Amino acid sequence: MNSTIADPTDASGQRPLLVMLHGANLDLLGERPAEHYGTVTLAELERSVRAEAEALGWRCECHQTNHEGEFIELVHRYRYSQALLVNPGAWTHYSYAIRDALELASAPVAEVHLSDVTQREEWRRRSVISEVATVTISGRGPEGYLEAVRFLAKIASDGGPGVEA
Ligand code: DQA
Repeated sequence: MNSTIADPTDASGQRPLLVMLHGANLDLLGERPAEHYGTVTLAELERSVRAEAEALGWRCECHQTNHEGEFIELVHRYRYSQALLVNPGAWTHYSYAIRDALELASAPVAEVHLSDVTQREEWRRRSVISEVATVTISGRGPEGYLEAVRFLAKIASDGGPGVEA
């Protein structure tokens, strides 16, 4: 437990909720090109994110879908959670519908990519999500997810978005 982060339990004893959403093709992590995504599976990633969140006193829910509309419905469903961690996969680069859904979330949003999308093909360099994300972490592999969890917990304990990473 990071001692700089206060106990996040609220007055009713409820732990805050971090929701992690993965988009298209990320269910096949472990089979996708290892030079970009490493060998970690989605289940392993979810386990480590859940462990990190729980160590900080948070609850954690994880979902993955290959359907854009379903991803949007998940953002709607969890828009009042205390933190959202999203890797929308290829939708990152063109889905204004996901961008608009995330804009409605009251929770701070961390956009995370395993690979460094700024150093790959031209079409991957643009994220339509970044402008509505509180932080974007790209190219740090699974460690980037843990950094995102710590960042989200820290800004929640500091009183919300708007705090420098
Ligand atoms: C990704 C990068 C995207 O460009 C790609 O389409 C993905 C994964 C990443 O985590 O590096 O599916 O979001």
